[in-house]
Amino acid sequence: MPDLEFRRDLFRGTAQYYDKYRIPYPKGLTDDLARRSGADGSGALLDLACGTGQITFALHDRFAEVWAVDQEPDMIDVVRQKAAAAGITSITALVSAAQDLTAPEAAFDLIAMGNAFHRLPRRAVAAKAAGWLRPAGHLALLWSGGPWSSDAGWQRATQATMDRWRARAGITDRVPAEYERERAEFTDAAVLSDCGFTLAGSYSFPVVHEWTADEIVGYLYSTSILSTAALGGLAAGFEEDLRRELADCEPGGRFRQLISFDYVLFVAAM
Ligand SMILES: C[S@@+](CC[C@H](N)C(=O)[O-])C[C@H]1O[C@@H](n2cnc3c(N)ncnc32)[C@H](O)[C@@H]1O
Repeated sequence: MPDLEFRRDLFRGTAQYYDKYRIPYPKGLTDDLARRSGADGSGALLDLACGTGQITFALHDRFAEVWAVDQEPDMIDVVRQKAAAAGITSITALVSAAQDLTAPEAAFDLIAMGNAFHRLPRRAVAAKAAGWLRPAGHLALLWSGGPWSSDAGWQRATQATMDRWRARAGITDRVPAEYERERAEFTDAAVLSDCGFTLAGSYSFPVVHEWTADEIVGYLYSTSILSTAALGGLAAGFEEDLRRELADCEPGGRFRQLISFDYVLFVAAM
């Protein structure tokens, strides 16, 4: 079964929004992941499709070495700037598609992919990851919910506004047509199992968060489906419409959500 192909420029122009508006993974989650994967300060972490380093910076002090890899150069620029500003020398930030990465065999103790595995050629990346991990090393898929992802009035209004402007801007080429069917038919766990990984467990760390309208707009600009590049000349109209919808729902301008944060942990073959 061939992997689905995504455009490679989906996150062009999102890095600054990504870094500012994405809510960090809770410390409870990253601490738990470090503990369960046996991180003791001596090993190596590979953060694949790292964005601006949400996992890298949360876990760098649990590993002697971290590789942060993303195919979007702007994301890697931000990782490099943040590492330099913080004086962190253990992070190697590389521009590469995950499936094209060249890395030594059995070099990593943990491979982590945050909000990303669904956008990767999963079979190709899982097969390579199995080779890059030491025997019985860990692989973690981290996930979090976006501001639209529950059923409050302001969230339904946000979803409807997103749909309206995606249709208006003709944003139809960000996700392959077979995406939903393929992902349901071949789950992440099944794809990883075919490459010798065993499911160790799934762990949830929900967080109550109160968004402002600025943060919701900024978050949406950090996505591949409603980036300013995707919206083009319609970005200002979208933003005005969304702000009006949000204000109608919550005149106080505070938008409360229980955000889901989860990770799924796998163990590589011995
Ligand atoms: C939603 S962001 C996730 C960023 C970060 N890992 C996190 O946990 O928030 C998805 C990232 O995957 C990157 N990406 C998408 N496809 C990729 C691929 N084939 N290889 C490497 N990076 C990829 C994008 O450039 C983007 O930075």
